[in-house]
Amino acid sequence: MSRTVALANQKGGVAKTTSTLSIGVGLAELGHKVLLIDLDPQASLTYSVGLDPDRLDLSLHDVFVRRTPMEKVIQSVRHLDIVPATIDLAGSEVHLLTRTGREHALKRALASVKDQYDFVLLDLPPSLGVLTINGLTAADDLLIPVACETLSQRGVGQLLETVDDVRAFANPSLAVVGIIVTLFDDRTRHAREILEDLPIRYGIPILQPPVRKSIRFAEAPSLGQSVLDHSPTSAGAEAYRQIARQLSERAALLDQESRKIEEG
Ligand SMILES: Nc1ncnc2c1ncn2[C@@H]1O[C@H](COP(=O)(O)OP(=O)(O)OP(=O)(O)O)[C@@H](O)[C@H]1O
Ligand SMILES: [Mg+2]
Repeated sequence: MSRTVALANQKGGVAKTTSTLSIGVGLAELGHKVLLIDLDPQASLTYSVGLDPDRLDLSLHDVFVRRTPMEKVIQSVRHLDIVPATIDLAGSEVHLLTRTGREHALKRALASVKDQYDFVLLDLPPSLGVLTINGLTAADDLLIPVACETLSQRGVGQLLETVDDVRAFANPSLAVVGIIVTLFDDRTRHAREILEDLPIRYGIPILQPPVRKSIRFAEAPSLGQSVLDHSPTSAGAEAYRQIARQLSERAALLDQESRKIEEG
């Protein structure tokens, strides 16, 4: 069975895109078939896999606005497949707002390809607008990257309120799987305190381990590589591999349970 996982936080620069690509490559290394979807008009994920967002004939925008079938927009890159974004996606946002059932557009478009993948990962933009709502409506699971600084964790409450709304109106089974702590610097007491406080405050588990701040991450996107390829034995690559392994094990467990239920 296929799982769709959204990575969301309306706060900018908390490593949503980095985490989406790194976990995607981690899952691919485990033998899973992975599709990434870039839902951000900034197109950072598209760029990070080595595609040029300014030279694409087709992107997610065409799916939303021209109803181009998703399979026509998918591109294969190293390890995995991606539905790329371009700046045009900012215009899709306006277009979607005028449509009935607008929050379901991605879920509907995904239906025809979803079953070809073990995991579909959604990189959401830093806002709580209609693109994010589409992502949360299409997702089975939510991961929340949080950068280990005070200002970035304050938005988590607001994101969880949005999740409650999405559950009430569009996607009752959306599961909040956990927080990914990013840009972690354990040399500061402040960072360690945040790490202790986060799960208590929001009642959401933190996926282990925290991902440390490292220059390796800054170098990778311009090479069109994930940190797992650029610096395979680094602590950051290992951290994302561990997180990918947990997601893989969780999916296997859920699969087993649903099979048991089917068999009665
Ligand atoms: N563990 C890390 N250590 C150091 N730098 C990192 C780490 N993770 C991500 N970065 C860098 O931080 C910046 C922001 O990361 P990223 O683009 O993934 O965040 P984002 O949440 O997707 O941002 P946006 O909200 O704009 O979409 C990038 O330059 C990235 O290379
Ligand atoms: Mg991003």
